[in-house]
Amino acid sequence: MDLGIAGRRALVFGGSKGMGRACAHQLAAEGVKVFLAARTETTLAAAAAEICAATGGAVSYVVADITTDAGRAAALAACPAPDILVNNADGAPPGDFRQWTPSDWHAAIDAMMIGPIDMIRRTVDGMIERRFGRIVNIVSRSVKTPQLELGLSNGARSGLVGFVAGLARQTVRHNVTINNLLPGVFATDAQRHHIEGMLESTGKSFEQLWNERGTSNPAGRYGRPEELGALCAFICSGHAGYICGQNILIDGAAYPGTF
Ligand SMILES: NC(=O)c1ccc[n+]([C@@H]2O[C@H](COP(=O)([O-])OP(=O)(O)OC[C@H]3O[C@@H](n4cnc5c(N)ncnc54)[C@H](OP(=O)(O)O)[C@@H]3O)[C@@H](O)[C@H]2O)c1
Repeated sequence: MDLGIAGRRALVFGGSKGMGRACAHQLAAEGVKVFLAARTETTLAAAAAEICAATGGAVSYVVADITTDAGRAAALAACPAPDILVNNADGAPPGDFRQWTPSDWHAAIDAMMIGPIDMIRRTVDGMIERRFGRIVNIVSRSVKTPQLELGLSNGARSGLVGFVAGLARQTVRHNVTINNLLPGVFATDAQRHHIEGMLESTGKSFEQLWNERGTSNPAGRYGRPEELGALCAFICSGHAGYICGQNILIDGAAYPGTF
């Protein structure tokens, strides 16, 4: 299927690793001009070169931290007027809410709520004027199924999803969609760090926890980043203008409800 987005411009935060990188790869394979944004130049440069070599696409990168005003401005200086925006960054470490201070909460909200909302603020009106826009937020299943040890993520991400629910209803008539992808367990560095953070509280080894999380999923495995990348590319496609304001689980059927 031709996704109908060749020649469009995409700004992909967290595009140097994991699921963001997989989104960038898939978009580049569809002929989209991709700009990767993240904080570390070495991994950005390597990802850009590898995606370029694998897809033959046009891939650039910019060092930019989505949690800062300067980072968001730098990303848009590199890629003014993106047609596609993928909001994505770090989560927050697991823990007990009794130990979290207001500054822990502010850091979580900057990364998972305010950064993405400010990127939407800076880009959505241009998309409306051009009558095409696709905004995808990589969120987490935690907004549907709270992860007990991830209170910072449960709380901050719910703020983003709640905000998007209202705005998406105002943009869709202009062919500008905003959707949230809710991954379950994916085999990425973030997942490895998450498990490392659980070693002490569980007393289990890394290998034991890693295997338990994968095999206890109904699919019997972790998600592959390229599976989410393909979903993202379709949601960004010309065919997906009627899919808007949705929270789309991609979790190997781990969510236990019927709806
Ligand atoms: N993996 C899972 O199972 C899973 C499940 C549910 C939700 N999630 C969430 O999905 C998102 C992506 O996860 P992942 O597994 O793909 O992570 P990952 O492999 O660790 O990649 C994270 C990417 O985001 C970039 N990044 C981090 N902080 C940033 C910031 N402040 N500004 C700009 N870029 C930033 C990283 O590069 P730099 O560090 O160089 O900036 C990297 O490119 C995270 O929010 C994660 O919590 C993951």
